[in-house]
Amino acid sequence: IHRFSSSILLLKDLALVRIILVYSADWGVSYRHSHICALKNSSVIMSCTYTYPTGHQIKKMFWTNTKEKKDKHEEFPDLSEDPKYSQRLQYLGDKQQNCTIRLSHVTQKDEHEYYFRFRTDIDQWIGKKGVTLTVTDLQVEAPESVTEGHSVSLTCKSSCTLTDRATFIWYRNSQPLTERRDRNNQLLLQSVRREDAGRYSCALHGHSYISPAAHLSVTYAPKNVSVFITGSGVIVEGDSVTLSCSSDSNPPALNFSWFKGGMFVGSGRIYSISKISSDDSKKYKCKSRNEHGEKYSDAVTLNIMYSPRNVSVSISQSGQLWEGDSVTLICSSDSNPPALNFSWFKENQSSAVGSGQSFSALQSGRFYCEAHNQYGSQRSDAVTVTVKARSSQKKIFPTTKRERNQLDQL
Ligand SMILES: *[C@@H]1O[C@H](CO)[C@@H](O)[C@H](O)[C@H]1NC(C)=O
Ligand SMILES: *[C@@H]1O[C@H](CO)[C@@H](O)[C@H](O)[C@H]1NC(C)=O
Ligand SMILES: *[C@@H]1O[C@H](CO)[C@@H](O)[C@H](O)[C@H]1NC(C)=O
Ligand SMILES: *[C@@H]1O[C@H](CO)[C@@H](O)[C@H](O)[C@H]1NC(C)=O
Ligand SMILES: *[C@@H]1O[C@H](CO)[C@@H](O)[C@H](O)[C@H]1NC(C)=O
Ligand SMILES: *[C@@H]1O[C@H](CO)[C@@H](O)[C@H](O)[C@H]1NC(C)=O
Ligand SMILES: *[C@@H]1O[C@H](CO)[C@@H](O)[C@H](O)[C@H]1NC(C)=O
Repeated sequence: IHRFSSSILLLKDLALVRIILVYSADWGVSYRHSHICALKNSSVIMSCTYTYPTGHQIKKMFWTNTKEKKDKHEEFPDLSEDPKYSQRLQYLGDKQQNCTIRLSHVTQKDEHEYYFRFRTDIDQWIGKKGVTLTVTDLQVEAPESVTEGHSVSLTCKSSCTLTDRATFIWYRNSQPLTERRDRNNQLLLQSVRREDAGRYSCALHGHSYISPAAHLSVTYAPKNVSVFITGSGVIVEGDSVTLSCSSDSNPPALNFSWFKGGMFVGSGRIYSISKISSDDSKKYKCKSRNEHGEKYSDAVTLNIMYSPRNVSVSISQSGQLWEGDSVTLICSSDSNPPALNFSWFKENQSSAVGSGQSFSALQSGRFYCEAHNQYGSQRSDAVTVTVKARSSQKKIFPTTKRERNQLDQL
């Protein structure tokens, strides 16, 4: 009779096959999933149907996580009476055939096999098969670092294959990556940029659980290499000057080289010049290097200030000077910034006889100039100016062409 009735039911309801073959056709509990893999803190629905012979009256039905009783007289524990479950368990079924329940906020401690049991006024159902629940968290699997321009794939791992086919979502630094559409549980970053570095976590759409974050670092060759000059900004000859090289790179560059006018002059992040001279007014560059490449900074020219030097006087006219003629003396000097203040002196005379870069001498004497800028001053060697008195040149007969002309005019 059992074999006959079961073959009829087999055609009618394939889902009940296993139960029907093992137990009586009239009695049975069938679970949609024998294994459920659920995400931590999610709600699990254990879909379940049951049948019992007509004429019976349901007396008790409940879910338990105990397969065998230790003692014949002991009852199976009813989860709805267990404080660990009662708040989280919700019976969604009915009293005819649906025994579905929902267990919310599942944790690893809920990993058990669960059974639906019921008793009628005549008999009871103690099925040996139930629903095995596995609870998983999510872990981001990613390399620690990726080089700029390369591609990288991040995987959101669960310890079992999730029963609910949910969409994975990704976060970088807690911000959802909305622009990405990725396959399954993978996030593919193509041609990685520096901005892609960060803390990545994953989650399932519609679930509150978020995986712990995995840090992805993006490595790259030095960029934005620049030279910084320590100090006030104004460099005066004799000062100590420190140049430092900064660059943006990952991993940080540890290898720096210095170039002065194109020549290698040293290594290290810092380049010091202890007593700077105006000869050091060259273009300086540094080069920063890490394992991904190297880059030069722009050239920096040091503007070194110095007081006047090589001060000299030049005379504009040449030849014999006569009383009444004036002679222009010009003071020149080398300084930074250029000297703008000049003083003129006549030898053995304490006060200045003139100012300005040029000076008109009207008398004989030895003259020198002094050039000033804000860093100091220096005097020139003296030059001799000889002016002949007109009286002493009075002659009866003109001897030069000029004298003849002058006489002709008279
Ligand atoms: C059982 O009840 C649940 C909740 O009401 C429902 O979603 C499910 O479809 C029912 N199952 C069957 C087989 O009727
Ligand atoms: C668990 O889920 C609830 C909402 O369902 C949420 O409020 C809570 O923060 C979650 N807890 C954790 C640890 O994710
Ligand atoms: C380059 O570095 C300087 C100084 O560190 C910084 O002010 C500047 O914003 C950087 N430029 C770029 C493009 O990163
Ligand atoms: C620094 O880089 C130069 C090439 O620019 C290389 O020759 C040298 O070995 C490097 N030094 C270190 C300490 O890595
Ligand atoms: C300027 O003076 C320095 C010494 O102070 C000297 O070495 C240099 O040759 C001079 N330059 C000129 C153009 O005279
Ligand atoms: C100027 O004084 C110096 C000594 O300080 C002296 O040797 C020189 O002869 C004097 N020159 C004139 C023109 O008086
Ligand atoms: C130039 O001379 C003027 C007046 O003689 C003075 O006030 C000024 O400080 C001088 N400047 C320098 C740079 O020596």
